Amino acid sequence: MATINDNYLKLKAGYLFPEIARRVNTFIEANPEAQVIRLGIGDVTEPLPQACRDAMIKAVEDMGDRHSFKGYGPEQGYAWLREKIASHDFQARGCDIDASEIFISDGSKCDCGNILDIFGNDNVIAVTDPVYPVYVDTNVMAGHTGDINDKGEYEGLVYLPITAENNFTATLPTQKVDLIYLCFPNNPTGATATREYLQAWVDYARANGSIIFYDAAYEAFITDPSIPHSIYEIAGAKECAIEFRSFSKNAGFTGTRCALTVVPKNLIGKAKDGADVEVWKLWNRRQSTKFNGVSYIVQRGAEAVYSAEGKAQIKALIDFYMENAQIIRDRLTEAGLAVYGGVNAPYVWVKTPDGLTSWDFFDKLLHNCHVVGTPGSGFGAAGEGYFRISAFNSRDNVNEAMRRILEKF
Ligand code: MLT
Repeated sequence: MATINDNYLKLKAGYLFPEIARRVNTFIEANPEAQVIRLGIGDVTEPLPQACRDAMIKAVEDMGDRHSFKGYGPEQGYAWLREKIASHDFQARGCDIDASEIFISDGSKCDCGNILDIFGNDNVIAVTDPVYPVYVDTNVMAGHTGDINDKGEYEGLVYLPITAENNFTATLPTQKVDLIYLCFPNNPTGATATREYLQAWVDYARANGSIIFYDAAYEAFITDPSIPHSIYEIAGAKECAIEFRSFSKNAGFTGTRCALTVVPKNLIGKAKDGADVEVWKLWNRRQSTKFNGVSYIVQRGAEAVYSAEGKAQIKALIDFYMENAQIIRDRLTEAGLAVYGGVNAPYVWVKTPDGLTSWDFFDKLLHNCHVVGTPGSGFGAAGEGYFRISAFNSRDNVNEAMRRILEKF
């Protein structure tokens, strides 16, 4: 009899977003006339930038000509894309990142999970609470945790609470941890990290031989020049951090799929026998074996993000979503709610009123206003009593959702 990976049995019944979709679908079946507005999952709604579409159309034509046709590409991504990323996203900000340290992939979500392939099973792992659920669930799947307790915490993980009291920035652990997940601008709270705060983490990681997994999927939403876009803007980070980035949220590639992971060449992990091992070599080996790269057409689309037109079109997209965030913040404040985030980040994090639980608030918003958000408790125990509203939607939908909340909540 074939056996299964029992670790999957430790997982909570459903991944958060499919679970929300299930509840919303049940509501719609019972109320087919309801015009539901979804501000739950952070999925983009606006069309792909023209520059990206033009580049992909041209790339399709390349594939129709024997001379420019492409078969398998490099597993790490095409050099012309990696070089543009290195130069525009990193070197232009003073980060010493070389194109060879950039690996193109089909998504940050996949890479955040896949990266665990190259790390040992005995690492002490720290996550913030609340947190993007993928970090936790992939560790559960890999057998890095025990069972879940009544609070929704997995035995063996170190949870670092982020709440209004600490400005949604975790206090550094007092114990030694080996792997640390950080996400800034933060999903779900919309908090950002100062240079000094990130420096403290880098110093901690270097002192303890830890590695930081830095998820910068939302860096394009930063407008405050004092806030770092990359962990590599911090002195010493190349020795202790891997960074994940995505074209999903800046260029609207959630359905097109393209992302990147930076693994610096001088990042070292320990083998069981105590020997130093270059992490880059393992990731390169992993990708070469398990991945065949992102399609040529999509990589050409991603490359267009760095053209003059592409940059202008992406700025317009980001400005548009950030105006949505401002409207959400203003209207919810008017409704008497305490709001956080939504500045330099596309998520607004709301304190639920009158002691409502996150799921009570979800149900009330769905039933009274036909508006969907994401319950904070779905991101971890310390998210209880909070609620996330995403700025990714059309202006009409955002205005209408806020009108309903002000009128009917
Ligand atoms: C979210 O809503 O948290 C995001 O859509 C998750 C993701 O990007 O995978």
